Amino acid sequence: MAESLFLPKSVSKEEIYQSLLPQLASLIKGEKDLVANLANIAAALREGFGFFWVGFYLVKGQELVLGPFQGPIACTRIAYGRGVCGTAWKEKKTQVVPNVEAFPGHIACSSASKSEIVVPAFQDSEVFLVLDVDSDVLNDFDSVDQRYLEELMRMLEKNKTS
Ligand code: SME
Repeated sequence: MAESLFLPKSVSKEEIYQSLLPQLASLIKGEKDLVANLANIAAALREGFGFFWVGFYLVKGQELVLGPFQGPIACTRIAYGRGVCGTAWKEKKTQVVPNVEAFPGHIACSSASKSEIVVPAFQDSEVFLVLDVDSDVLNDFDSVDQRYLEELMRMLEKNKTS
């Protein structure tokens, strides 16, 4: 297993994703423990992009419960359909939020968060976790983030055994 990431400098975010994803694929391939993989993915995304907050919420019953993350402390439980994360779960669809204040029901774990993307991952067609990435600048996420973060969730789904 690689013990450090190679991160190209001064390149577009697309190039960073293109460099990071294969490294993450080989990192999680040899490890079947979900929490261990989520922890490394959160760390790699934060290191690669400097996002304000990167983490996972796992479906447990009728709630999302905070999982591995990087960044300031965050809300621990989010109800089905609530906030950006609960909406991604309910709609089974990525949510790209250019301005969190304009998103009805947004849950502000930190007032520093300005824009957000939440990407669900599935098992047997049901959401089992969401990836949540927050930025402290407005309008920080677009179709490039959506495409690569969704690809990352597909990788995670294929690797999941428990
Ligand atoms: N903003 C999220 C809550 C989680 S924090 O951003 C880490 C939401 O509205 O679901």
